[in-house]
Amino acid sequence: MEFQTLVLTYFIVALVVVIQPGKSQNGGGFVERKGTHFILNGKPHYINGFNSYWLMNLASDPSTRSKVTSTFQEASQNGLNLGRTWAFNEGFLQISPGSYDENAFKGLDFVISEAKKYGVQLILSLVNNWNEFGGKIKYVQWAKERGQNVINDDDFFIHHVVKEYYKNHVKTVLTRKNTINGILYKDDQTIFAWELMNEPRLNNSGRSIQNWIREMASYVKSIDNNHLLEIGLEGFYGETKKQLNPDSLLVGTDFISNNQIPQIDFATIHLYPEQWLLGSNETTQRAFVDKWIEDHIQDANTVLGKPIIVSEFGKSSKSSGYSIDKRDDYYKKIYSIISASATSGGSCAGGIFWQLLSQGMDSYGDGYEVILENSPSTAQIIKEQSTKISNIKQ
Ligand SMILES: *[C@@H]1O[C@H](CO)[C@@H](O)[C@H](O)[C@H]1NC(C)=O
Ligand SMILES: *[C@@H]1O[C@H](CO)[C@@H](O)[C@H](O)[C@H]1NC(C)=O
Repeated sequence: MEFQTLVLTYFIVALVVVIQPGKSQNGGGFVERKGTHFILNGKPHYINGFNSYWLMNLASDPSTRSKVTSTFQEASQNGLNLGRTWAFNEGFLQISPGSYDENAFKGLDFVISEAKKYGVQLILSLVNNWNEFGGKIKYVQWAKERGQNVINDDDFFIHHVVKEYYKNHVKTVLTRKNTINGILYKDDQTIFAWELMNEPRLNNSGRSIQNWIREMASYVKSIDNNHLLEIGLEGFYGETKKQLNPDSLLVGTDFISNNQIPQIDFATIHLYPEQWLLGSNETTQRAFVDKWIEDHIQDANTVLGKPIIVSEFGKSSKSSGYSIDKRDDYYKKIYSIISASATSGGSCAGGIFWQLLSQGMDSYGDGYEVILENSPSTAQIIKEQSTKISNIKQ
């Protein structure tokens, strides 16, 4: 009897140790930020990641669900430790303000539980700037249909009713209980970070989205203080440094002041030189890429004091003069800038290429897709980067 009690006590103690919050069963844990570095279980943590925006859609259909599994499987075989994907889809996940399709949500549950199985963490983005998968325009339309006095897309960032719709979506996602593993999303260590919006932009360059970011960042943190938070910025500067933007374009964001908001844990940039510098030659584009990354890393090091991730980059097969070799060189170039920063103690903590597809998903191809099994040379470069970043000790 006494022996049994002892065994039971040991069992309970062991159980408590295992389920201690903040520690994980599989070497996970919440990623934290300390100055310009990410920390996971007391050690510096670096990212080699992929974008796969479509995961929830394919997961919610039993006939395509296996693509999600094979994507995580192939990603993990190549050492990729992070996927960035959409936790929004107005009209599919959120049918109308506050009304959700349970089957679509179960798809997202599956994505998160499957990512965990393969040791892949996720950045989940909460709305799109663009019209794909709903986006800010859908939110504004919803308000209009309900008699609100909204004028254009920019009202997404300004109108009080639209902001309430968005906040409600944030709350619904963050407090969702996963139907597969029973974990609340806000408690799930598989999630690396929340992203406020994919590529926020205002058309009217005289205005800014600073207030919107401030309000929404506080709101996210009021519900979930465990996870990291980023904005989803492409990296465009405001008025004072607009000469660094492609064609000095202003989009209502400011890489500096937006990321200085205390609740924002890290900065992001995207890189689309062939779209942003239309008609420019390769030399100009290469020079832009170097400078765009270096300028932002420098700002993250010295002005922001926060980590930065290159959260979208890629090479489209539709770009002029494309070849697999060119794509491979481009990936090598980006990866080497990232690891040069990381190995010297700088703020750049990783890259997330656009985009990873699994085999047999041709309709999702946008020119940027990498299918690891079909692209051994690109897969090799990705794998080498994974090894490199996982060996960084500082
Ligand atoms: C903003 O830009 C988008 C795409 O460029 C366009 O469709 C939309 O009508 C614009 N909205 C305003 C308010 O100018
Ligand atoms: C590329 O474009 C830049 C700027 O227009 C020009 O100065 C340069 O000579 C061009 N380079 C080549 C190789 O055509």
